[in-house]
Amino acid sequence: MEVVPLPSVEDVAVLAADTVEALVRTRPAAVLGLATGSTPLPTYRELIRRHRAGTAPAYDDVRCFTLDEYVGLPAGHPESYRSTIARELTDDLGIAEDRVQGPDPSPEGLATAGERYEDALREAGGVDLQVLGIGSDGHLAFNEPGSSLGSSTRIKTLTERTRRDNARFFGGPEEVPRHVLTQGLGTILRARHLLLLATGAGKAEALAAAVEGPLTAQCPASVLQLHPHVSVLADEAAAAGLA
Ligand code: F6R
Repeated sequence: MEVVPLPSVEDVAVLAADTVEALVRTRPAAVLGLATGSTPLPTYRELIRRHRAGTAPAYDDVRCFTLDEYVGLPAGHPESYRSTIARELTDDLGIAEDRVQGPDPSPEGLATAGERYEDALREAGGVDLQVLGIGSDGHLAFNEPGSSLGSSTRIKTLTERTRRDNARFFGGPEEVPRHVLTQGLGTILRARHLLLLATGAGKAEALAAAVEGPLTAQCPASVLQLHPHVSVLADEAAAAGLA
């Protein structure tokens, strides 16, 4: 694992955008795994800025897979992760809608959604670069503490802490869905390169536990220690707990 402490959020965004662009330049049909949430937004904005400036590689042949999705939101809800990633990144990069996929939360397909998502990932040839954030409790995607380290895409229940953390995107904690579909920790480990972004003091404790603590389901992000190619980009505040 390479851990890169950087002075600011902007530095994290620039280096993360460099990493994405370097991949797409050498592999125009790259498969990108995309996290939602606040942390990757400066990176996504930087990628869009470069695309608009005409300095970015072409994204026409790229395929994207989101990490997770809420269950129980009406189709097309602005806070669904499928809508969020289109709005925050892929639409602006000109990536066609049918090249972006997330786990399918529709009620009629819920029982098979995990299996179908795993099939889709496999058929795409697997994820080349997976962008990740980390929860303040050490969750990775929506694998909350206690999640199986070898898990595949499945339905999970969010903890009250994560629902509180995500309430800012909704009218309040009560409006945050209780259930999600999420790539499993085993799914994430199958991506070829993992790029974990961590910014802000609220992530310092979880990041230190993930990088330097014991491998434990109590800190799901500690599973990254098992992967041969992980890059962690952390701003000064998030890196504060590292030795
Ligand atoms: C989002 C996701 C989550 C977030 C995590 C951190 O797709 O899977 O694991 O990465 O909750 O969220 P932020 O970045 O909003 O602090």
